[in-house]
Amino acid sequence: MNKLDIIVLGASGNLAGAKIFPALFALFSQGLLPDEVRFFGFARSELTQDGFRERIMRNLTCRYTPEHSCGDFIEKFLARCKYYSGDYNSPEAFRALASELNADADRVFYLALPPAVFPEVTGSIGSSGMLKNNGRAWIRVVVEKPFGRDRESSDALNRELLKEFPEKQIYRIDHYLGKEMVQNIMVLRFANQIFKPLWNARYIRCVRIDWQENIGIEGRGGYFDRYGIIRDVVQNHLLQLVTLITMDEPESLKADAVRDCKLKVLRDIETVRIDDLILGQYSGYAREPQVAPDSVTPTFVNLRLRIANDEWRDVPFNIRAGKGLSCRKSEIRIVFRTPESNIFCDVAECPPANELIIRIQPDEGIHFNIVSKVPGLKMRFQPKELDLSYKSAFAGTVIPEAYESLLLDVINGEKALFIRSDELEAAWDIFTPLLHYIDENRIKPKIYEFRTDGPDEAYRKECVWENR
Ligand code: BG6
Repeated sequence: MNKLDIIVLGASGNLAGAKIFPALFALFSQGLLPDEVRFFGFARSELTQDGFRERIMRNLTCRYTPEHSCGDFIEKFLARCKYYSGDYNSPEAFRALASELNADADRVFYLALPPAVFPEVTGSIGSSGMLKNNGRAWIRVVVEKPFGRDRESSDALNRELLKEFPEKQIYRIDHYLGKEMVQNIMVLRFANQIFKPLWNARYIRCVRIDWQENIGIEGRGGYFDRYGIIRDVVQNHLLQLVTLITMDEPESLKADAVRDCKLKVLRDIETVRIDDLILGQYSGYAREPQVAPDSVTPTFVNLRLRIANDEWRDVPFNIRAGKGLSCRKSEIRIVFRTPESNIFCDVAECPPANELIIRIQPDEGIHFNIVSKVPGLKMRFQPKELDLSYKSAFAGTVIPEAYESLLLDVINGEKALFIRSDELEAAWDIFTPLLHYIDENRIKPKIYEFRTDGPDEAYRKECVWENR
């Protein structure tokens, strides 16, 4: 295997500490990285090498190695981590980092940074000579969301990136695509013949995507107050779930075959209108640090997406997403239609609809509500679940973290789970007019109590959409 240098920019931040380094460690401890791999951190904060390693160590867990060898692996990993600090536009700081890199090594640059500093950072990477190696080794850059605040700012960001990196080197990460159950959606749909004929408007009445967190914004007020829940999770993570549920079957699993199919359906999704949603804000949000006291930023949304193609016309996709709700869960619920003529309606109440539930987290699993006769002398029905709970079905198997699987794909040059620029443009087109309208008119969200189910109106509206 080749030599590999992984350079994490924004290395003192939360994302790097909580997700990126632990994922790199998980790959390292399984022997999935080249023998000669090294990890470089760069950020503005001044830290000693020990201070940096201490920060990384806090989040490392040995899920893949026996406990007795865990300490050894951690030590070996930390010995390969080195930290550099400096301003993102400091030529000296970047040159110092550049002088450490191995000319024969492949390079991954991970921008774990707010987009406002992307242009400076990519410019500094370019001018420090780090984009030149021996010509045989590859260079890739991983970019984290948010990719802009709307179509225009996303395009501008892209232009900046393209000044230094050609599209084929760019890996736009959406960590939801790395989640085990999200990767399973294509398998569920295309490897199980029984679902194929049923997967369209003729048999499916509506799809609900429910994304809830029971925490608030956890000190991220400076970011969140400028973005809000639609930009934070709907335009990216949850829209990706919609595309996986509705895309046609690709010709192969090759990156472009998959992404062409996703793009096709993204372009069929209608732009969201203001009467297609309810916005909410948890009470107390405006008192969070770095949040404007008169903030109208939504922490909750319930919205309907419509898809203008033959397969999905008239099937509402209801997306509910919120922070400060009563529990933490992400799931997709596919609600089937009840049979057009149902012989049982003449003799008892009509049986309820089938539902397929894809539980992304916590407790990954697939559940299918099937209508059964309740044992007894009367004809009564009840939906009962067929359960495929990962915990029991795959007991003993470690479920990889999303970042582990995506980072390994970056290193292997596998792009199917990364967002292509045209996908990103189409995703922004769906939301940009709405987001501009909300911002310009300072649309007021409904206030809901922290750790409840969000504003009541959201549920009333959902029922109206679904029963049309
Ligand atoms: C991030 C959002 O992209 O995803 C956060 O910025 C959110 O606000 C997080 O909490 C959720 O990720 P996960 O993997 O915990 O569901």
